[in-house]
Amino acid sequence: MTARIIDGKALSDAVKTDVSERVQALKARGVTPGLAVVLVGEDPASQVYVRNKAAACEKAGLHSRVIRLDAGITEEALLDVVRELNADPAIHGILVQLPLPKHMNSARVIETIAAHKDVDGFHISNAGLLMTGQPLFRPCTPYGVMKMFEACNVALRGAEAVVVGASNIVGKPMAMLLLAAGATVTICNSKTRDLAAQTRRADVLVVATGKPGMITGDMIKPGAVVIDVGINRLPDGKLVGDVDFPSASQVAAAITPVPGGVGPMTIAMLLVNTLEAAERSLNA
Ligand code: GUN
Repeated sequence: MTARIIDGKALSDAVKTDVSERVQALKARGVTPGLAVVLVGEDPASQVYVRNKAAACEKAGLHSRVIRLDAGITEEALLDVVRELNADPAIHGILVQLPLPKHMNSARVIETIAAHKDVDGFHISNAGLLMTGQPLFRPCTPYGVMKMFEACNVALRGAEAVVVGASNIVGKPMAMLLLAAGATVTICNSKTRDLAAQTRRADVLVVATGKPGMITGDMIKPGAVVIDVGINRLPDGKLVGDVDFPSASQVAAAITPVPGGVGPMTIAMLLVNTLEAAERSLNA
């Protein structure tokens, strides 16, 4: 079997077109959705992500403000920047790019973002709302994966879903969204004893580990839907996912490529979250 390729680029373009139309409608009512992206330090990957996020905003008609801060800034000074953004009516979404420099307490920074502007969905109150089935903001990457399932008519009710990776950014919220959609969910982590025994049970497999090529075709159930969240740069410069695409695509029914899979969806859902925060501000 050769898997169907799930085209994240095309799907993200469709989402962004829808966002642009809703942005125009909102502008007609006097509100331009605004996103502030805060980048601390010079991490090269983060710089690329932040540039892409700002460019996607401009293209869809949202206002974006990138705030670049020196790696040596104190945590208190960063918190002051966040507090100013919390109070700024032109800003509907605030995103502090992670990872932060080691001397900072990321949890404290995230908890300082106003929950109603936390378009990443990382604030403890947004995590709690998601867990209790009343989501305000869904974290962008898992939200984008759910959009892919919807667009591809993947039946989640009663399905065996296995999530490899248990981060707060991807694995845990992914599991919550799958559970809410009626899947039976297993979350694997780096201590899971027999990973292949778990992944081979999956009708739906989502992999977010940051380990290039760790999931190979022999670990996948024939006919499974495989979502690869990983983006790893190899020493030769090539970008690969956490799934070994050549072997996996011979076994799966559908699979996301890297690049061009989950990555573009994450940015599209950030625009959705920012737009919806702005829409809610009108009703507040
Ligand atoms: N670093 C890697 N992914 C993300 C993300 O989705 N949001 C933020 N803020 N930082 C990240």
